[in-house]
Amino acid sequence: MQENRSSRAQWGSKFGFLMAAIGSAVGLGNIWGFPYKMGQKGGFAFLLVYLLLAIFVGFIIMNSELALGRKTGKGIIGAYNAASRRFKWVGILGVISPLLILMFYCVLGAYCMQYMFLNFSELAMGVYSKSAMTGVDSFTAMITNPFGCIIFTLLFVLLNVLVVRGGVSGGIEKFNKVGMPALFVMLLVIIGRSVTLDGAVEGLKFMFAPNFAPFSTFKGFVSVLAAAGGQMFFSLSLAMGAMITYGSYLSKDEKITKSSLVIVVCDTLVALMAGLAVIPAAFALGGEGAAMSGPKLLFITMQDVFARMGVIGPVFGIIFYGLVIIAALSSSISLMEVLVTFLIDRAELKGKPANRSKYTWLVSLVFTLGAVLVAWDGLGANGLWVPFQNSLGVIGEFNDCWLDFLDCIAEGVAMPLGALFMSIMIGWELKPQYVLEEIGQTRISRFYSFCIRFVCPAAMVLVLLGQIDQFFKLGLF
Ligand code: PHE
Repeated sequence: MQENRSSRAQWGSKFGFLMAAIGSAVGLGNIWGFPYKMGQKGGFAFLLVYLLLAIFVGFIIMNSELALGRKTGKGIIGAYNAASRRFKWVGILGVISPLLILMFYCVLGAYCMQYMFLNFSELAMGVYSKSAMTGVDSFTAMITNPFGCIIFTLLFVLLNVLVVRGGVSGGIEKFNKVGMPALFVMLLVIIGRSVTLDGAVEGLKFMFAPNFAPFSTFKGFVSVLAAAGGQMFFSLSLAMGAMITYGSYLSKDEKITKSSLVIVVCDTLVALMAGLAVIPAAFALGGEGAAMSGPKLLFITMQDVFARMGVIGPVFGIIFYGLVIIAALSSSISLMEVLVTFLIDRAELKGKPANRSKYTWLVSLVFTLGAVLVAWDGLGANGLWVPFQNSLGVIGEFNDCWLDFLDCIAEGVAMPLGALFMSIMIGWELKPQYVLEEIGQTRISRFYSFCIRFVCPAAMVLVLLGQIDQFFKLGLF
């Protein structure tokens, strides 16, 4: 293992690693999931539950993944192979999920690019004032135009390839070192505009007003816990092999505990900031019944918001969609790196020379096939056949488009299942000492051991049930 480590690529700097890890964490999940779930499920009360989960579960699993990666010096499959014979198979989940998520994540990234171009053309030609296209009009026009969506999806994939092909420090780190600070500044600009709009206060109330009503019943409490837990996992890029992979390129001198804390804090901060950027504006200018979550929030409500800002609107539109593109790209490259590292590890194991460029193209070819399908499907707008569409009569209907179908398998089942088995593997088979040796700190040792053995598995079971309930619309909670 020692020889392997010395030949393995490494992050160029501590800052670079942190930016890359934060870049992976900060993504579409922060921008369209967090603010809405917070608003709907108790405001400040939800935030409290989210923070507790982030400390007791997210932070613990983050430490575990980075440590597992660095200790074994391998990506997801290699790390599980090296760590445990009994749980070897869990690694496979960590290859399947990123592949499935990439298939739709890239399409969403492409949508952001299309909207950025829309705002560019509005700025250049004043298209808005002439055609008076509403957010709904432009969204419908976009998703029912498969050719355009496929072309932009290919473009977004190409951007990913260009970054990942550059390697860990020469591509991923370089992109994030510039991209993350830029994203932060752009976010501040949008927040400045959003919270000073007339009527923005209503949005702030929606997000932050403490509401304990969801907590009044056990069912309500579990539903908040599951929503917060699922959101936290996705948002922190956990149980996807991303942090194991990034950890495998981490130098022995870095303090894993500190880094984990910084990543968790920054991801939560950006989620809150994204809420401040989007929700007050949506309340002030989104109009009656404006959608507050998901693709509709981003591509219908926000586009209407920019339209109502007058001539300056497209400028804010360009900045906004630009920052979402950076957020999406920095996450999708981490998902791609999971797969590329897996192939590099495999080649090394077989004693073959590892060709990063070739693997990057190969990986992108595979997931692009799925991405083209998702782009073509246009969130179900183009009548494509979808597996199991509305056919599970017994347990309710669960998916009406390719995006939902893929998300349901990856985020709904594979992700919580992977995290559950990981905490059982570390807590009960390998014992917490396995990770503690690597993170080398005694101050949190007891806290870590307790959480990884008891809190994490318990929380993961609840999250798994909650996700299955939500994705399959079972109505349990
Ligand atoms: N954390 C990313 C987001 O919030 C998504 C992601 C999940 C990225 C898992 C990598 C791994 O959008």
